[in-house]
Amino acid sequence: MERIQKIIARSGLCSRRKAEELIKEGRVQVNGVTVTELGTKASYDDIITVDGKQIVIKEPTYLVMNKPRGVISSVKDEKNRKTVISILPKEFQNLGLYPVGRLDYDTKGVLLLTNDGEFMNRMVGPNSNIEKEYLVRINGIISKERLKSLEDGVVIDGYKTRKCKTYFVSMDKKNNSSLVGIILKEGKNQQVKKMFAAIGYPVKRLTRIRFGEITVDGIPEGGVRLLKPHELKRLYVLSNQTSK
Ligand code: URA
Repeated sequence: MERIQKIIARSGLCSRRKAEELIKEGRVQVNGVTVTELGTKASYDDIITVDGKQIVIKEPTYLVMNKPRGVISSVKDEKNRKTVISILPKEFQNLGLYPVGRLDYDTKGVLLLTNDGEFMNRMVGPNSNIEKEYLVRINGIISKERLKSLEDGVVIDGYKTRKCKTYFVSMDKKNNSSLVGIILKEGKNQQVKKMFAAIGYPVKRLTRIRFGEITVDGIPEGGVRLLKPHELKRLYVLSNQTSK
């Protein structure tokens, strides 16, 4: 049993605070009975309506996927390409899951999936300070100084990126490429590719190797596992930490 405002927020309809207002205004019904008491609890089997419309509530589920390349980070695709939902094992197909943020079609690695709208906003909202770590194969041999130049921010699409960390892994002189790492606390659209393009090193291959403390160690490509309660708790803690 959970407080009704929490269940409503989890459905993704609105924030918990807004749900409290809806309850106080008498706009919420549980199994046909209007509730105005904020402490009222319900289960995920109850029928909850807001302004007469039933909200879709499923048992909150949190997964980590080892996303392969060639799969789109959305629920449906007009071009009928594989999506991160279509490749899920059957038991997770109908839980109303969606990806927490996006990885590009050609990016692989750590991708969280959930049906908890509140959790989603905490993880990817503008105030989320969770570290995302990427391994990046770039075209060209980059110097350590040039790589470090990204750390104070670089302008992409008229926006100066926040401070970040970088590290050098190796270079491949024969193929004229370098392997580097970058750790960001934000997640603008195609941020890593745009940051490296901005300093003249186009990205050839991108892998997200960490989201907070979550990795895909032991998960085969395309596979998933449920997040453990302590991992969820840590993600909430990390998302609360203020920016440095
Ligand atoms: N940055 C990118 O450019 N692409 C991704 O998929 C993730 C981060």
